[in-house]
Amino acid sequence: MVSEIVWHISQKNPKKPFFIPHNHITVLREPVQRILYFAIRSILLDITMSCTIIVGGFFGDEGKGKIVAHIACKDKPVIISRGGVGPNAGHTVQVGDREYGVRMVPSGFVYKEAKLCIGSGVLVDPRVLKYEVEMLDVKGRIFVDKRCGIITEDHIVRDKGSAHLSKKIGSTGSGCGPANSDRVMRISPQAKDVPELAEYLLDVPKAIDDELKQGRTVLLEGTQGFGISLYYGTYPFVTSKDTSASQIAADNGVGPTKIDEVIVVFKAYPTRVGEGPFSTEMTSEKSDSMGIQEFGTVTHRKRRVGGWDGGMARYSAMINGCTQAAITGIDRVDKSCFGVTDYGKLTKKAKDFLKKAEDDIGSPITLISTGPEMTQIIDLREEQV
Ligand code: IMP
Ligand code: MG
Repeated sequence: MVSEIVWHISQKNPKKPFFIPHNHITVLREPVQRILYFAIRSILLDITMSCTIIVGGFFGDEGKGKIVAHIACKDKPVIISRGGVGPNAGHTVQVGDREYGVRMVPSGFVYKEAKLCIGSGVLVDPRVLKYEVEMLDVKGRIFVDKRCGIITEDHIVRDKGSAHLSKKIGSTGSGCGPANSDRVMRISPQAKDVPELAEYLLDVPKAIDDELKQGRTVLLEGTQGFGISLYYGTYPFVTSKDTSASQIAADNGVGPTKIDEVIVVFKAYPTRVGEGPFSTEMTSEKSDSMGIQEFGTVTHRKRRVGGWDGGMARYSAMINGCTQAAITGIDRVDKSCFGVTDYGKLTKKAKDFLKKAEDDIGSPITLISTGPEMTQIIDLREEQV
């Protein structure tokens, strides 16, 4: 009977778990068979599919770019696809002594075998995309969903020219707010309407689904952070869309049942750019004296710096459905941890910090970043998960 059930499962589309064709229904009539069916099915699917989402747990700039680059090189996904708002995001990836700042191309570009995609929910600025495609030499492996909303020069003018957006909210001036507003008004152009994007167009959700059905690994890369989510952040001092894991799945057309892991990235000392409340913010004299000085990748504004916020970390982990957490900047908790790649070599001070952070988050910390370079990381995933 077990082999019959396995056969039935293998005949079905594993992405439609409750779709049972007529002629197969008999297998599921008996309660015992039903239980066996779903038990075996869940074991099989766990072995065969892997779709991971990576999101920011605080106010953005948590170091997602570096975490994504590491996971990409280690897990070798066939597709790395971006969700999130658009080119307001700036991700920094440092490989050796070269530093890259990306706003449109997924941070996983450093892993050369992966197809790089931009999901349907993401706003595309064709000029920024063209510049990055040439700079990073990714032509031939980068794709844009045909439904992506487009940022025009007019959106940028409206963003920078609006006192509400540019002064009160402190937007990045990249045109995202007005472009999302036009999209909601249903007057925005889409990627399929722009001739210079023709060579990049793809049905991204279908491409991802095809790979997941083959049991291959896919990474969905989020941008911004939980605290600037339009729904859950410090409204009105937020970006123009939700930034949580569910939104990143939706941006890529991947249904919630297909997600295996949600990795939320937290920064030991969170930062915030732009206006809005920041409960653990410290004075810039204090952060300067601690040697913490950061500037935005997109706007070059000085970032505000704060202490660890356990309550926010817990709430953010809850809404993101966190299954694993990554902590960046542990070398700021204790300078002697800079560049360490072995958990055993972390100091007691750093380990105590991680223990407290893990209690706050309520999920295992599996990745610990000890410096900006891609290989300065401790990866505990095999040991703890
Ligand atoms: P907008 O997304 O450009 O409209 O900016 C709205 C707010 O979100 C401003 O406070 C920005 O500084 C902030 N923001 C947008 N994108 C990012 C990001 O990628 N990292 C950090 N802050 C961001
Ligand atoms: Mg950034």
